[in-house]
Amino acid sequence: MNVLVAGGAGFIGSAYVRHRLAAHPDATVRVLDKLTYAGRVENLRGLDPERVELVEGDIADTEVVKPALEGCEAIVNFAAETHVDRSITSPGEFIQTDVYGTFVLLEAARDAGIRHLQVSTDEVYGSIVDGSFTETSPLDPSSPYSASKAGGDLMVGAYRNTHDVDALIVRASNNYGPRQYPEKLIPLCILNALAGDPLPVYGDGMQVRNWLWVDDSASAIDTVLEFGRAGEVYNVGGPDELPNIEVVRRILELTGRDESLIEHVADCLGHDRDSAMRLASAVVLYSLRR
Ligand SMILES: NC(=O)c1ccc[n+]([C@@H]2O[C@H](COP(=O)([O-])OP(=O)(O)OC[C@H]3O[C@@H](n4cnc5c(N)ncnc54)[C@H](O)[C@@H]3O)[C@@H](O)[C@H]2O)c1
Repeated sequence: MNVLVAGGAGFIGSAYVRHRLAAHPDATVRVLDKLTYAGRVENLRGLDPERVELVEGDIADTEVVKPALEGCEAIVNFAAETHVDRSITSPGEFIQTDVYGTFVLLEAARDAGIRHLQVSTDEVYGSIVDGSFTETSPLDPSSPYSASKAGGDLMVGAYRNTHDVDALIVRASNNYGPRQYPEKLIPLCILNALAGDPLPVYGDGMQVRNWLWVDDSASAIDTVLEFGRAGEVYNVGGPDELPNIEVVRRILELTGRDESLIEHVADCLGHDRDSAMRLASAVVLYSLRR
């Protein structure tokens, strides 16, 4: 199957392209990516050019999307503006890509009669004090980023209900691993620690996140693409729930630095306090595989 991977030159998208090629010897991939600051051609370096094609372009542009989709049998959409802090200062780009761009891809999937898998985030559920989110938890986004992602998700549901598009959603927790742009917590702290620079920690650093290795995420997304049911939402999380300050302390330990490098900075509006996902979703993935 030839899959259009929108946003495939970014962090998770490029891990997904690698996974897809390794897991399916006959698979080919066309990456459609605007190559924003977060997308890099180098993220696809070393891959077989016979099996991976890169088209530079915007998912919000119908004239780009239509020809890019030719010969593809499914869309996996990673393309998004993704950084919460940037969404607070310039939300317009988030709405344009994460909502309008998703709509353009859904229209194209509808025209072509193919599957659209939307890659979304647990941040659409907002913050939680006790317990965990499930796939049926209400959407309660805290930031323009998560609101834009929730808007994209709702559009996916609407295209499923209104036009019977073969559309479905994966909501993943916080990914970590190679090729992540160093504005996100883990790569930023690793680089700062290695350079001996301060490690910024929002507020008391007690915000809890569910951390997921990016290759596990890629594998889960591929399982849902292959076996998921149209109209469903699949939460994908891991067993590693840690407060940010704990993640930072581990990075300091591993890089041989001490805690004097920690710099507490004011937490900004729109940051979720805690997020947790019920691991029942992992069970769903295993049963899908069988
Ligand atoms: N990183 C995480 O922890 C995480 C967790 C859950 C869900 N997600 C979701 O997974 C997806 C990928 O996240 P990521 O961390 O790899 O993001 P990223 O910022 O590393 O990559 C985003 C990619 O999308 C491309 N892009 C942006 N706007 C585009 C447009 N208009 N047209 C075409 N391409 C465009 C960028 O060039 C880049 O290659 C996003 O939808 C994000 O919301 C991320």
